Amino acid sequence: METIQITDVSPRDGLQNQAIPVGTDAKLGLIERLAAAGVRSVEVTSFVSPRAVPQMADAADLLPRVTARLPGVRASVLVPNLKGLERASAAGAQEVAVVLSATETMNRKNINMGLTQATDVSAQTLQAARERGLRTRAYVAVAFDCPFEGETPLDTVVALAQRMYAAGADEVVIADTIGAASPGMVKQRLQALAQVVPVAQLAVHLHDTRGMGVANAWAALEAGVRRFDASAGAIGGCPFAPGAAGNLATEDLVLMAERSGMRTGIDVYRLLDAIDFAQDALQRPLGGRCIAWLRRQAQTHARAGVSVPD
Ligand code: COA
Ligand code: ZN
Repeated sequence: METIQITDVSPRDGLQNQAIPVGTDAKLGLIERLAAAGVRSVEVTSFVSPRAVPQMADAADLLPRVTARLPGVRASVLVPNLKGLERASAAGAQEVAVVLSATETMNRKNINMGLTQATDVSAQTLQAARERGLRTRAYVAVAFDCPFEGETPLDTVVALAQRMYAAGADEVVIADTIGAASPGMVKQRLQALAQVVPVAQLAVHLHDTRGMGVANAWAALEAGVRRFDASAGAIGGCPFAPGAAGNLATEDLVLMAERSGMRTGIDVYRLLDAIDFAQDALQRPLGGRCIAWLRRQAQTHARAGVSVPD
């Protein structure tokens, strides 16, 4: 049976842009529930400027609590520069992700650097992380469309992915930051990227803005990609990318993969506990495309006194 690796990014991509402040205890509660559902890789937080993203200001408190409580979970954190790496490292990070966007304007909006500087800083941060023995991921954001510059040239995306891989990224994460990709585009771009980065080290990070999240994930599978970011409850979106809606929901991806004969290690029913918990914290309904079906299914099982299948 094929296995796919899912990194749940709900505590970072999901919570970074919420109007309601979410406390450190609640973030830990969410991550514990994700782990209980079988999630083995989580993007916990980001070590960014607290002025830029107030929701992530507690990163240095949260990360050590997560690693102490859940030693079996890969805890990744986003770092935009060397200062972020220093802070993450001091908090015990074992895995960091740099965030490079594939256009000039998106980098300026997101991390206040142009494309050339952002590329150099990302490469330096990756190298420094490697020297410290950390695992590394490199996002190439707006790898399909940019909200400011339109369709991103494929050549640029390929060149940046290649540079991040050469700088020591264990995983290069191709991100559809605003959810503008289509399955044909995903397959074509990932096939091209697999020429410069081994496909086993490529990951895809999708948003479900236009209802194409699951179809795009399928296209990525067809291109040979087996690593995915997703967010429980479909919460997510970049505060600096207008039009970015929620991430591809972890529950949708798990259901699609498991129903197609692939293993994820995640129990989609137990994921409901995490989603319900996040709903309480954010005080609004959450969930991916399959959520209504999933809730009905879970209720039917409970009424029949049958334990939900693993
Ligand atoms: N963590 C915390 N503080 C940081 C930091 C980091 N990683 N990097 C820089 N800072 C601090 C500096 O120390 C400085 O503080 P001071 O004013 O108290 O001296 C201040 O931020 C400005 O530093 P500067 O290097 O000029 O940064 P900037 O204002 O150009 O901002 C980033 C650059 C990258 C720090 C900021 O744009 C950022 O945090 N962006 C994050 C974007 C993000 O998370 N997007 C969503 C995920 S993709
Ligand atoms: Zn995202």
